[in-house]
Amino acid sequence: METARSSVIVAIDGPSGTGKSSTSKAVAAKLGLSYLDTGAQYRAITWWMLNNGIDVSNPDEIATAAAKPVIVSGTDPAAPTITVDGEDASGPIRTQEVTSKVSAVSAVPEVRTLITALQRSIAAAATGGIVVEGRDIGTTVLPDADLKIFLTASPEARAARRSGEVKGSDLTATREALIKRDAADSGRKTSPLAKADDAVEVDTTELTLQQVIECVVTLVEGKRVAA
Ligand code: DC
Repeated sequence: METARSSVIVAIDGPSGTGKSSTSKAVAAKLGLSYLDTGAQYRAITWWMLNNGIDVSNPDEIATAAAKPVIVSGTDPAAPTITVDGEDASGPIRTQEVTSKVSAVSAVPEVRTLITALQRSIAAAATGGIVVEGRDIGTTVLPDADLKIFLTASPEARAARRSGEVKGSDLTATREALIKRDAADSGRKTSPLAKADDAVEVDTTELTLQQVIECVVTLVEGKRVAA
């Protein structure tokens, strides 16, 4: 049936540790869609700022430099890539240093304007459809997305998942860092982490990753058939 092939834009938002990335990648791969990790883009610009001597506690300095780095995202869910000025940034953007500074950099309006425009152009170019994950995709970046999902989970479950991903990490410290970052991301003035009014909320606390993937795939297929 033609509708089964129709292009679809899926926005998946939520705080860290809810399984957003694993779910988004798996759903995109399963349904033959492109995939965009917008957190990786904010991490990439943060990495560039740190490498280029920008004082990331100074929003004016961040705003002035924001347009300098060239960030390119590869959207194959089987092998997503990210480069900054042509250099592979996929490893360095996951360091503790970047993680602890990314909320400050991503709160600067000039950064958000530039990255939001980049995200919209990538989504527009993905003619076969795309899954875009982040914090403000359903509310700000792609308010006309065909399907909006907001993933949640208890802080305990999120911290346990995150410390499982990072070798040798301490559960209490991970939980505290995660709560601090969520508070900064939810509390910023420009496009904070928020659930769109028309998003479907999925609480993943008691679900396995496989169950979350199946739930989202079912929701996407429902939208495609309805289209
Ligand atoms: O998903 P992540 O943990 O890699 O995201 C890193 C940071 O990027 C997150 O703490 C806030 C910011 N971010 C954002 O402000 N807006 C998005 N759409 C995605 C991420």
